[in-house]
Amino acid sequence: MNDASPSLRSPLHERVIGVPLGAPPSPPEPDLKLDPKLRRLHLNESPLPPSPRVIEAVTAAARDGAYYPDFACTALADRLSRMTGVSKDVMTFGNGSGDLLIAATLATVGPGDEAVMATPTFVTCGRGVVLTGAKKIEVPVRDDGVTDMDAMIAAITPRTRLVYMCSPNNPTGGPSSREELQALAKAVPEDVVLLIDEAYFEFGRFAGGVDALDIVRERKGAWIITRTLSKAYSLAGFRVGYSYSSDKSIAEALAKSRPSFIVGRIALAAACAAVDDRDYHEKIVRTVSQERDRLAGGFRQLGFNVLPSATNFIMAIPAAKPAAAFASALAAKGLLAQAMPWRGPNGALRMSIGTAADSDAVLETVREELAKA
Ligand SMILES: Cc1ncc(COP(=O)(O)O)c(C=O)c1O
Repeated sequence: MNDASPSLRSPLHERVIGVPLGAPPSPPEPDLKLDPKLRRLHLNESPLPPSPRVIEAVTAAARDGAYYPDFACTALADRLSRMTGVSKDVMTFGNGSGDLLIAATLATVGPGDEAVMATPTFVTCGRGVVLTGAKKIEVPVRDDGVTDMDAMIAAITPRTRLVYMCSPNNPTGGPSSREELQALAKAVPEDVVLLIDEAYFEFGRFAGGVDALDIVRERKGAWIITRTLSKAYSLAGFRVGYSYSSDKSIAEALAKSRPSFIVGRIALAAACAAVDDRDYHEKIVRTVSQERDRLAGGFRQLGFNVLPSATNFIMAIPAAKPAAAFASALAAKGLLAQAMPWRGPNGALRMSIGTAADSDAVLETVREELAKA
């Protein structure tokens, strides 16, 4: 395969990736292969496998693999509608919820428009905004990692077309309160889309947090909520996400921003089986939440400032040395964690909740690293 010709120009490439087509390649990503020696604690995946009922369902669905799937994902929509009372015609399904975040930007903003979002927050919506030629307006989160709602509201201008709100927030972990979300839902003008990313919704609920649906149902203006089967249903590899919208036209605009049949037959069968197995789903949320609190406690005992988390990951801020030093020590033992520049001189370590053995290995390695000069 030839390298891209230096004369080939791609504005999209420059805008989104930040480098011209034909520029030297970026350094390789960490090894994402399913190497059993590596513990992937950098992608907020579930440490539990999918439900046994999922495995049965996908095997059965594979027999019909010659046929396109139901593009409306009716079987899953029926289940979600029964669970929430949301009408099926305001639901849209995606190849993961990240897919719907991009679709939401394509459907709402363009050149000259602004989209307000926190920083740091989950990157995909911001990437979509840049892709459309609109401008990101980034509002620093509070020191505890939770979105600064007053500052978000103050950042809304007549050019704002989209407000992206991730709660609980990735990468910091903290959920916004009911009052904060209500204030935002009230302050965002009716013709501006309020996009709430609830990828960690089930963990947030387990921690006693709010359901954004209760809040946006009171809102007169436009809204979208995105959720995923990747985290609390252990289906990240299947790629199924969904959204609820304030009205049918938004749901349709999201669906039409991508090719048809975006959720495959096997992924759909997996999602339905996972949603049906309530006991297993609750076990995932409970196990991960309890292990998260244990891991957070261990980091606190080692002198880290662990931010509040209602997710399947924690963010731990070291006092003693840079987060990158801990990430390297962990990587040397096959434990992949993410060192991030936010916040303070040492940055922070973000790490997903793995098994109890993973937490023990992490804490042991961190203790060893602290003991070094
Ligand atoms: C806040 C948030 N939103 C969306 C996603 C996308 O998840 P998926 O595309 O697997 O549904 C993630 C993944 O980590 C996330 O953290």
